[in-house]
Amino acid sequence: MIPPFDLTRQYAGLKEEIDAAIARVLARGRFILGEEVAAFEEEFAAACGVAHAVGVASGTDALYLALRACGIGPGDKVITVSHTAVATVAAVELAGARPVLVDVDPRRYTMDPAKVEERITPRTRAVLPVHLYGCPADLAPLLEIARRHGLFLIEDCAQAHGARYRGRPVGSWGDVAAFSFYPTKNLGAFGDGGAVVTNDPALAERVRLLREYGWAQRYVSHIRGTNSRLDELQAAVLRVKLRHLESWNERRRQIAALYAEYLTELAGQGLVLPGEPEDSWHVYHLYVVRHPRRDALQAFLRERGIGTLVHYPVPVHLQPAYADLGYPAGSLPVSETLAREVLSLPMYPELTDEEVRQVAEAVRTALMHIPFSGNGDEPH
Ligand SMILES: Cc1ncc(COP(=O)(O)O)c(C=O)c1O
Repeated sequence: MIPPFDLTRQYAGLKEEIDAAIARVLARGRFILGEEVAAFEEEFAAACGVAHAVGVASGTDALYLALRACGIGPGDKVITVSHTAVATVAAVELAGARPVLVDVDPRRYTMDPAKVEERITPRTRAVLPVHLYGCPADLAPLLEIARRHGLFLIEDCAQAHGARYRGRPVGSWGDVAAFSFYPTKNLGAFGDGGAVVTNDPALAERVRLLREYGWAQRYVSHIRGTNSRLDELQAAVLRVKLRHLESWNERRRQIAALYAEYLTELAGQGLVLPGEPEDSWHVYHLYVVRHPRRDALQAFLRERGIGTLVHYPVPVHLQPAYADLGYPAGSLPVSETLAREVLSLPMYPELTDEEVRQVAEAVRTALMHIPFSGNGDEPH
C-alpha cells in the first residue's frame, strides 16, 4: 500500500527534535503569542525573503486578514481563480468582498494573466493568484497589471512554501501573501496554522492588530479584529520543520524528476505530466498528472494499493454553494477540463525511489488497460 501522503514517516525522522521542542513549550507554560511564535515569525520572514511574517490560525485566516489589512471589504471586488482550494474564494467573501473568477493557464494551472484585465472594474481592489500545486503563478505580468491599475497583488502561497519565481521566493512578490501550515503542506504544523508575510510594515502591523481583537494594548481594541493566533506549540514544531524545508523541497523535485523519467513516454496514451516553467522553481506540493479517463486510472491504481487524490474535482464556480456567483458550466473551460482530468500521485519527501518506481509501473500498466482514443472525449 502506498498512501497519497504519510505524515507518520516525517515525524519518525524528526522525533527527537520535535519532542524536545514540545517539551520546551510545556515546561515554559506559555501557550499563546510567546517567544516561539516571535522566533518563528522572524525565521519564516527570512526564509521568504521579506521583512515581516505574522503567525495566524490558518491559511484561510491568513488570506482573510491580508485582505482586511489592505482595507478590502464590502463593495470591493477581488480577482482570483476557480481552480483552487475553496478556501481562496471563501476568504474573499469572509472579508465581505466579491470574488471575480478567471480561468487558468493550461500549462501552469495558475491564473492566466491574459484573462485578468478584461475583468477589472472601478470596484476591483486586488488580484489574488494561487501558486497551485507548488508551481509559481506567472507573477511578472500579474504584478505589472496590478501596478498599472492601482490594485493590490495578494499571493496565495498555501501550496508553495519555498517555491521561487525568477529566482525570488513566492510571497516576496506581491504586496502581501498568505501561507497555510495545514499538516500536509510542504511546511506543516501538527494542527492548523498560517502566516501573512509582507515587506510593508504598516500592513504587518494591521495584521498583528486584527489577529487579536484589534488590540494595540491589552483589552483595548483600536480596530475591530478577531481571534486568529498561531499557538506556541505549533510555532515550536514549525521552527524545527522549517530547518528541513529546503532539503524536503529538493527531495520532492527529485521524486518529480523520477516520475518524469518513468512516465514521459506515456504521453502518447493521453497522460500529461506537470511541467516546470523556465522562470520557476517548482516545489511539487502535489504531483498532478492529467488523463481524459482520470476516474478509470484512479480506480485501477486504488485496486493495486496506490492511493491518489483529486485536487480538485469541482471548480469553485460549479460548486453548489457558489452557484449564485453566476458562472455557468462552460464559462471557465480550462478550469473545468482540469477538474475532470487531474490526478495527484503520491508525493512526499519520505517516498522511496522504489515506491516511485512502483507507482509509475502501476500507471503504465493501467494505461495499457484503459482504452484511450486520443481525442480526449471518452466518457468519464
Ligand atoms: C490554495 C490554498 N489556499 C488556501 C488554503 C487554506 O488553508 P487552511 O486549510 O490552512 O485554512 C489552502 C489549504 O487548504 C490551499 O490549498
